[in-house]
Amino acid sequence: MSDKCKTYYLTTPIYYVNDVPHIGHAYTTIIADTIARYARLKGIDTFFLTGTDEHGQKIEEAARKRGKSPKEYADEISSKFKALWDEFEISYDKFIRTTDSEHIKGVQKAFMQMYEKGDIYKDYYEGHYCVSCESFVAPSQLVNDELCPDCGRPTRIIKEESYFFRLSKYQDRILSWLKEKKPILPEARANEVIRFVEEGLKDLSITRTSFEWGIKLPKELNDPKHVVYVWLDALFNYLTALGYGSDDETLLKKYWPAKLHIVGKDILKFHAVYWPAFLMSINYELPKIIAAHGWWTRDGEKMSKSKGNVINPKEVADAYGLENFRYFMLREVPFGADGDFSEKALIDRINNDLGNDLGNLLNRIIGMAYKYFDGKISSQKVEKYYSKELNEAKEIIGKIEQTYLWKMQIHKYLEELWKILSIGNKAIDTYKPWEMMKNNQEEKAMALLGLIANLLAMVAIYLHSVMPKTTSKIANTLGFEINTEKFNEINENKLLNDFVIKKIPPLFPKIEKPLMKKAEIKEPVDLITIDEFFKAELKVGEIVAAEEIKKSKKLLRVEVDLGEGRVRQIIAGIKEYYTPDELVGTQVCVVSNLKPAKLMGYVSEGMLLGAKDENGFSLIRPEKKKKLGTKIK
Ligand code: MSP
Repeated sequence: MSDKCKTYYLTTPIYYVNDVPHIGHAYTTIIADTIARYARLKGIDTFFLTGTDEHGQKIEEAARKRGKSPKEYADEISSKFKALWDEFEISYDKFIRTTDSEHIKGVQKAFMQMYEKGDIYKDYYEGHYCVSCESFVAPSQLVNDELCPDCGRPTRIIKEESYFFRLSKYQDRILSWLKEKKPILPEARANEVIRFVEEGLKDLSITRTSFEWGIKLPKELNDPKHVVYVWLDALFNYLTALGYGSDDETLLKKYWPAKLHIVGKDILKFHAVYWPAFLMSINYELPKIIAAHGWWTRDGEKMSKSKGNVINPKEVADAYGLENFRYFMLREVPFGADGDFSEKALIDRINNDLGNDLGNLLNRIIGMAYKYFDGKISSQKVEKYYSKELNEAKEIIGKIEQTYLWKMQIHKYLEELWKILSIGNKAIDTYKPWEMMKNNQEEKAMALLGLIANLLAMVAIYLHSVMPKTTSKIANTLGFEINTEKFNEINENKLLNDFVIKKIPPLFPKIEKPLMKKAEIKEPVDLITIDEFFKAELKVGEIVAAEEIKKSKKLLRVEVDLGEGRVRQIIAGIKEYYTPDELVGTQVCVVSNLKPAKLMGYVSEGMLLGAKDENGFSLIRPEKKKKLGTKIK
């Protein structure tokens, strides 16, 4: 980004509401939040958009599975995203939902505009569709003639009437835009998009008729059975959020074009090919940068619900601190590459980078300032004694924004900041202020503390957008506040005024062992087949007798009739929750093909099903009375 830039509009993808927020969503959002905070700190008028993507077949099916209407379901999940971002203090300016009426109006307006331009025509779509990616898949892209090349799931064959967008018409313009403006970051990713366009763009089906959960076509087209393809609907959020399609286009005039769309690598094609084509069709300027990040895995494995290894970002932030988590995600993985989450890697970053390099440097000068100078620190002689160290640090500050931050090389940006900390730590070890104090070199020792304080001030300011609260605490210790004025001062190489350093407790106490509760780190669940499930024989029975086992605190002896012409004896650990009297005459669910076992000398011929949580235990019973021996399936 150039220094002349007056406004800065950046966006995250809008998240599908078929699932609750996970670490991948948090990653994209935290990157965007960091960039937004940085731009604001520089004094740039910034607009940061996030939100939820709520239409489409995937959401309709997810809602139906849960017995909810799509809107009810979308309301529920969308509010979870919003609540998490609020808890994480994500500094978004607008949270858009594609079910917002202004958005719907905007999409219909765009559709009509493209239609009137002659870019939309009606035909039939026959081919493969991946519901999970909400994506049409060309036969040549299919894996094993059937699977989606992006997510590996089976595609469905659909044949339906559809409106098409003349994507092919824009092929050359998209290609020259990609090649000349180089809007994709990291640049290495651009090649695959360019190749995709060069292979030839086919017109894109942009309406569906086989389900209902989507935006209807503009009334003028009088074609009520079609809904707008979810990706066209979703991409336009970047414009409708600013008022496109409404009576008030002030924000649109002020902020468009977007300076930055942050996306995951899986959705780059939609943003770098379809989106510019739509924009060209309605004569809007194209976004400046589309930055694609990689994917997070867990302990080396792809995260998935069925494996039970999906990381809940709130659990990580609760255990390790939100800002430490932010730092970890941004530092651990080169932007664009895939990254692995492990608690060990997170703990290492906190203990080493944050605790040793940053926290200790601050503690060291607090300690020395009080030992030698009653807490006073002065920058007045820093340039006299330590111009080499100071200049090295200034050089880093001078380049990190343009070379790394706006290029989305945030991990490098942080690495460079850490070099400033290492200049500081090394200076203390090399110059040994304790020896200077012994040798009456007080002025030089004071200058060294001044040097370190200024290095820490630089780091606090430039780390602020990643760790806002922690760096504000550091600044407070060093006697200043972080704001645009201070940012500019540091940028202009102005040193700190003399001040008395404040004592604070360590910012990053050492973490000795993993902090995420074991129960919450779900171990991969092994899936079973239906045949394996049916190996367990479950039946309805009635308790005909029950008595306490005197010697045991937990066990009751019950007799259960499973309609077998005899009663079975079952020893159940339910004494704390039920008296024998309340059990007799009630129906229960029984695992009836367990191998008999002996408990406290009694043979047990089965097991009662129950559920236990923090509120106690309850037996599982049929909702209505059932014939004894009825199979449960
Ligand atoms: N709704 C579309 C985006 C429409 S934007 C106009 C969508 N939603 S999503 O919820 O499936 O994904 C949102 C973002 O989360 C994507 O950028 C995706 O790359 C990212 N991630 C989802 N899982 C991820 C990881 N495991 N790791 C990192 N990010 C991943 O796509």
